Amino acid sequence: MKRLILILLVQVVFAASAIAGGGNAAAGKEKSQTCVACHGEAGMSAVATFPNIAGQYEDYLYVALTDYKSGSRNNPIMSGIVAALNEQDMKDLAAYYASLDGLETLDLPSK
Ligand code: HEC
Repeated sequence: MKRLILILLVQVVFAASAIAGGGNAAAGKEKSQTCVACHGEAGMSAVATFPNIAGQYEDYLYVALTDYKSGSRNNPIMSGIVAALNEQDMKDLAAYYASLDGLETLDLPSK
C-alpha cells in the first residue's frame, strides 16, 4: 500500500512538472499589456482587489489561467480575460510573471 502511494505521488510530481514550462517569458511580456491595468506594472498590483502575480510559481499561474478558462475557477473578470488567450499565451504569461521578483519568501527553519 505504501509502495502504491509512493508510485502515485511520483506520478503526480511528474504530471505537475509536465504542465509547467514551455512558456517564453519575453513573449509573455509582450502579451502582458492587458494585465497591467489590474495587476500592475511587472505584476505588483497597486490595489488590494487585484492579486500580485509577480514571482508566483509558473505552474501555479498556468493552472490558475487554465482553470479560469475551463470554468473550474470562476471569476467574471478573469473569465473574460482568458477568453482571448490561447494555450501558448497562457504558458508565456505564466513564464513571464514567474520570472519577475515577487514577494519575499521566508527561509524555512533549519532542523
Ligand atoms: C480588469 C482587471 C483584470 C485584468 C485586466 C486582469 N486580471 Fe487577472 N485577476 C483579476 C482579479 C480581480 C483576480 C482575482 C480573481 C479571483 O478571485 O479568482 C485576478 C486573478 C488572476 C490570477 C490568479 C492569481 C492567484 O493568486 O490565484 C492570475 C494568474 C491572473 N489574474 C493573471 C492575469 C493575466 C495574465 C492577465 C492579462 C492577460 C490578467 N490577469 C488581467 C483582475 C484582472
